Amino acid sequence: MLANTNSRHLVGLFLAALASQAGAEDGGSWKPDKPIMLRQSGGFTIGGKIIPNPRNPNMTLSCDHGYVEYFTPWKPRKASIVMWHSSGTQSFQNRWDGGEGFKDKFLRRDYPVYLWDGPRVGRANWACDATTYEPNYRDQGNFVAWNFGPRFDEWWPDVQFPTSNEYAWQQATSSRYVEYDSEFSYNLETDAAAIAADSGKLGKDIVFLGNSASGLRAQLTAVKSNTTNIKGIVCYEGYGYIFPDNAGIEPGPGLNAFGPVVVPLEDFKKLAKVPSIQFLWGDHRDESFVFLNQSRQAAELINKYGGNAQVIKLGEDLGWKGTTHIAFADMHNDKVADLLDDFLHKAKLSRYQ
Ligand SMILES: *[C@@H]1O[C@H](CO)[C@@H](O)[C@H](O)[C@H]1NC(C)=O
Ligand SMILES: *[C@@H]1O[C@H](CO)[C@@H](O)[C@H](O)[C@H]1NC(C)=O
Ligand SMILES: *[C@@H]1O[C@H](CO)[C@@H](O)[C@H](O)[C@H]1NC(C)=O
Repeated sequence: MLANTNSRHLVGLFLAALASQAGAEDGGSWKPDKPIMLRQSGGFTIGGKIIPNPRNPNMTLSCDHGYVEYFTPWKPRKASIVMWHSSGTQSFQNRWDGGEGFKDKFLRRDYPVYLWDGPRVGRANWACDATTYEPNYRDQGNFVAWNFGPRFDEWWPDVQFPTSNEYAWQQATSSRYVEYDSEFSYNLETDAAAIAADSGKLGKDIVFLGNSASGLRAQLTAVKSNTTNIKGIVCYEGYGYIFPDNAGIEPGPGLNAFGPVVVPLEDFKKLAKVPSIQFLWGDHRDESFVFLNQSRQAAELINKYGGNAQVIKLGEDLGWKGTTHIAFADMHNDKVADLLDDFLHKAKLSRYQ
């Protein structure tokens, strides 16, 4: 049972109790068989603008850049893994229960890891325009959006989440950032990400991991990039796909936050030039789900133009029941990591420098 809606006065007490009960945040007594050895870690901003103050042009604001935190293993492999969250880097840092997340899993496997915060989110929140924040009571919406169950507090019986761990649920929902989903925002984010990809500062063999809204962004970054640095894209339940302008597909309605994004055929062919692409789905996803359908259509088109894109349903195709929207934080994320390992190996991206 999660915090009951008719006992709101207890919620503050409940959170305080959870905080005092929680032990070390490092996954407890689990002992990995190998250390993580780093040569370096650090961070930098990239992209963005410097704008003058209209009232005093001597004053400027550096804004709308992205922020990268990087970790370089002692003996790194060549390919770098850029983890692009949809709503918070935390999803890549720990499993739902605090166990090992993808960041450490891939550092332990000697891949350089980059955590990316796009312009205006996370640690890149210095915006060039005024922004507003309205509390929107998002917790219950997260439960459904992350496919923990059909409605709030009704878990899928097989869900890969520690359902009786109230602290884990509280961590999951509170580690979100403000998320901007609009055509303006995905262009802002991908302009900066394409500069980052082309700069060489993310390495010359980049694999973008996208999730949800950042799945679309990873694909659009490849369309905007002018180098061959992007060698792979893996989208975990990507919301939004890119289509060529000759496929008879209408661009998304309204603000177009999740596509379809329609681009000239010549630009679309850049996706076909990315050596390996995977569109992955969790469990409890019907074929009628609009983004699943779009991922199949997009993969077909990428392959039609000579690319290499695959769609895999982790639940139905691989039998990993209860996989959520955020497979890399799920309780079986060791299997999900092995799948990525396999992808990197087949794409010849596992070589050492
Ligand atoms: C901007 O700097 C210039 C050169 O230092 C100075 O002459 C000018 O007064 C400054 N303008 C403002 C509005 O402070
Ligand atoms: C790629 O090249 C085009 C055309 O010159 C340019 O407009 C765009 O800014 C470049 N993209 C990046 C990421 O530098
Ligand atoms: C996508 O859905 C449409 C119906 O809305 C269907 O005709 C089409 O076959 C589906 N495409 C794929 C690739 O599953």
